[in-house]
Amino acid sequence: MPELSVLVLTTDEDQRTLLPVQVDGTAIAKTVNTIFGFPVGTTDPVVRRIKESHADVVLIDIPPKDSATALRAVELLHLVMPQTTIFAIGEMSQPQTIVNAMRAGAREYLERPTSTHNLLEAMARLTSAQRKAHANSERGKVFTVINAKGGSGATTIAINTALALQAIHGNVALIDVAPLGHAALHMNLKPAFTVMDAIHNLHRLDGTLLEGYMGKHERGLHLLAGVTEPTTQEPSSAEFARLFDLLVTQYGHVVVDASSRLDVVTRVLCDLSDQILLVAQADVTSLWSAVKVQSFLGDHDRIRLVLNRFRKIPGFSEADVESATQAKLLWKVPNQYALIAQGIDRGSPVTEQNHSEIARSFVGLASALTPREEEETTKRTMWSLFRGA
Ligand SMILES: Nc1ncnc2c1ncn2[C@@H]1O[C@H](COP(=O)(O)OP(=O)(O)OP(=O)(O)O)[C@@H](O)[C@H]1O
Ligand SMILES: [Mg+2]
Repeated sequence: MPELSVLVLTTDEDQRTLLPVQVDGTAIAKTVNTIFGFPVGTTDPVVRRIKESHADVVLIDIPPKDSATALRAVELLHLVMPQTTIFAIGEMSQPQTIVNAMRAGAREYLERPTSTHNLLEAMARLTSAQRKAHANSERGKVFTVINAKGGSGATTIAINTALALQAIHGNVALIDVAPLGHAALHMNLKPAFTVMDAIHNLHRLDGTLLEGYMGKHERGLHLLAGVTEPTTQEPSSAEFARLFDLLVTQYGHVVVDASSRLDVVTRVLCDLSDQILLVAQADVTSLWSAVKVQSFLGDHDRIRLVLNRFRKIPGFSEADVESATQAKLLWKVPNQYALIAQGIDRGSPVTEQNHSEIARSFVGLASALTPREEEETTKRTMWSLFRGA
């Protein structure tokens, strides 16, 4: 799957045919649009078409006979789309054109006519610089919720934990990758898009488009809904990894509802998660399954057990549960069938019922997942209080 989407801008018939072939030949980039002609002002409809392409790179072909119009286009696009990378292609025998193109905002100036090899080198330089910048920037935390056995409560826990994280920290996304997505129903949302739309449009996916795919809950939580029909069309785990690469740049916390999905995608998502919440009940079948799911996911130190529908059972201790599953227990969610079932039927998750025991339990779970961040938030609040004093 190509990493970069490219828009070609030219006024030369031959380049119009040749450049997309060369771009696609690099295998790391793909042409998403070719436009014949340069924009002349910010309100030019061409500018809107370029913006709507959501390309990572705009490739501007500078014709030797009329470099001025092309250079103006470089300047204009750099002004209106500062996040988009511009590559210029022009003659090397015109030093002033090179200087002007770079000053106008081009990131690279490539020799005209160019070659697939030159384009590949320039694209590779860009992706490597982007990866470095990405690695250095703050990345959101990912928590994946999976059940030991169908119906254990993964969706309920994913939604309510996400809502509690949203209330504490803000900027949270819930991603439904379950075999059949139930999260939208639990939250009474009817988003027009699903996670598959994001996957199918990865080549042009940026923060704005991603947000467009999200269902918005009234408490500010964003939901990337799950599939509404069982599907045999399996996206690759690499595609999911790329989607999550973007998600963690956009959200402070990303909660994944994997429910009973047990495939290579779940494995990859668990690999890139900060913590994996394995939801089980304190009965023999559920605990037996918890061991099997854990060994499928690999030997992770990041797996934590969440015991759902918890009731004290005489003679059965937490230590027994931990030794039976070889997993550390993170949290126990009380058994509150009436409240939870009513919340699901009404599309109003229990965390919204602020003072109930079950709502407090989810706030506690969210805090247990982010202990240091809690401290930092408290420290920041204290500091601003002192400064304000
Ligand atoms: N703490 C709880 N107390 C009582 N009932 C609960 C609790 N948590 C969940 N339930 C009930 O269990 C049922 C299954 O929950 P949920 O859909 O969240 O499980 P799941 O693991 O996501 O299931 P699936 O395998 O279908 O994806 C729900 O109908 C809900 O009413
Ligand atoms: Mg579920």
